[in-house]
Amino acid sequence: MPTDPHGDLRSVPRAPGRLPALGHLPSLFRDPLAFLDSLRTHGPVVRVELGTLPVYFVTTADLVREVMVAQARSVTKGRLFGRLSLLAEQSLPVMDGGEVHRRHRRLMQPLFTPARVADYAQVMGRRARELANRWTTGDHILLDHEVADLVMGTSIETMFRSSIGQRVAAGLCRDTRIISKNALLRTVCPPALERLPLIPAVRRFDAAAARMKAVVDEVVAAYRSDGADHNDLLSTLLAARDVDTGAGLSDAEVRDELVMMLLAGGETCSAATSWVFHELGRAPRTRKRLGDELDTVITTPEIGHRELERLEYTAWVVDEAQRLHSVPVLTRHTVAPLDLGGLRIPPGTELGLSLHALHHDPHTFPDPARFLPERWRIPPPRHTFVPFGAGGRKCIGDTFGRTQVLIAVATLAARWRFQPAPDHRVREVFATVPRPDRLPMVLAER
Ligand code: HEM
Repeated sequence: MPTDPHGDLRSVPRAPGRLPALGHLPSLFRDPLAFLDSLRTHGPVVRVELGTLPVYFVTTADLVREVMVAQARSVTKGRLFGRLSLLAEQSLPVMDGGEVHRRHRRLMQPLFTPARVADYAQVMGRRARELANRWTTGDHILLDHEVADLVMGTSIETMFRSSIGQRVAAGLCRDTRIISKNALLRTVCPPALERLPLIPAVRRFDAAAARMKAVVDEVVAAYRSDGADHNDLLSTLLAARDVDTGAGLSDAEVRDELVMMLLAGGETCSAATSWVFHELGRAPRTRKRLGDELDTVITTPEIGHRELERLEYTAWVVDEAQRLHSVPVLTRHTVAPLDLGGLRIPPGTELGLSLHALHHDPHTFPDPARFLPERWRIPPPRHTFVPFGAGGRKCIGDTFGRTQVLIAVATLAARWRFQPAPDHRVREVFATVPRPDRLPMVLAER
């Protein structure tokens, strides 16, 4: 009997609420996180229609592991990331996988060795202390902006420690902010509409991306010509050589990887740090316990490796905030048949994975919407909590990012109490990385 080219897709349940032509877009726009969370109740694989494009959402941790790890060779990154190539075509997050992706990963791994991250941690700590010292009691601040500037400043300094790097820092900070703000609209804008001047998000995004690339090109050229080791991420990347071929990355590849790291790392770390303070603002008992731990462990201004290892409760607080505010949607595209628990998925299928939904599964995380750091006393099975993804496409900056968030939280929370401004109700903005709309806070001494 001939096999059905659609595999078993016809038997997959469809999420309710679909409208002709629009599919599930109205439900997705109305309350995206609630919609993604609801999918697991319809089955382990659920069909969602984005307009007329069917996307098959995988809703259990076991099957997400199949897609990300066990059968990862049968998938590429999918639509969402495909369009990010507008920004940096030759960078890890947008590559389809295969040998080019593996070569880039091998060459970039030396940037994130434990010794390197320990070195970057000194920059992270110093900058966080400088910020904490700048504030005074009673200041009204937008904590999300302060944290974003801290993270970007730190990322740029760890990348370019030279004088030219420091000269271009402010412009890069500004452009990454413009790109992040307009990224979602830019990536979903159909190519036919791209040229319309009516779409300011597209224009702003493209102009900032062009500026950023030109600036990073200039820095790369300056490093190449002076040939010095500035003991930073860019010097390490320029020196990296493939063990088999002896070749390194081209200047354009280096530029694209740097641009993407600034964006991928900046937005994720500042959102993660901001969410911690948002949650702490509503949880006085957690705040007290965190403060007690920080007072005991941090006895000198510098937070080193030894202190980080002893900050157990702080790590629970960070994990719990990350669990509550994880990446809402990742996509994959099948290039070979996939077997999802006996369900045959043919090549050419779009898959969706929601880390947010996975981390809100009540079987793994009872009372999932509640901020409860104590739940980490008994860690869940490893593959059920994957804020950095898993397998060969796992976040390359996971340790860097985690260290950055832990140091920022520990340094700022050891010194200050952040009281949420009473007149603002924080909203979660649905984006590639969810972030608070605004985080106005009033500073009080601890
Ligand atoms: C709290 C911070 C962070 C979070 C939550 C996070 C999350 C993620 C996730 C979920 C992925 C996997 C995407 C997928 O499977 O489709 C990823 C990939 C990636 N992240 Fe991060 N990230 C963080 C920080 C960083 C930092 C600091 C950097 C760079 C310095 C970075 C660079 C990257 C890159 C280059 C990839 C693509 C890896 C590949 O495809 O080989 N991220 N990140």
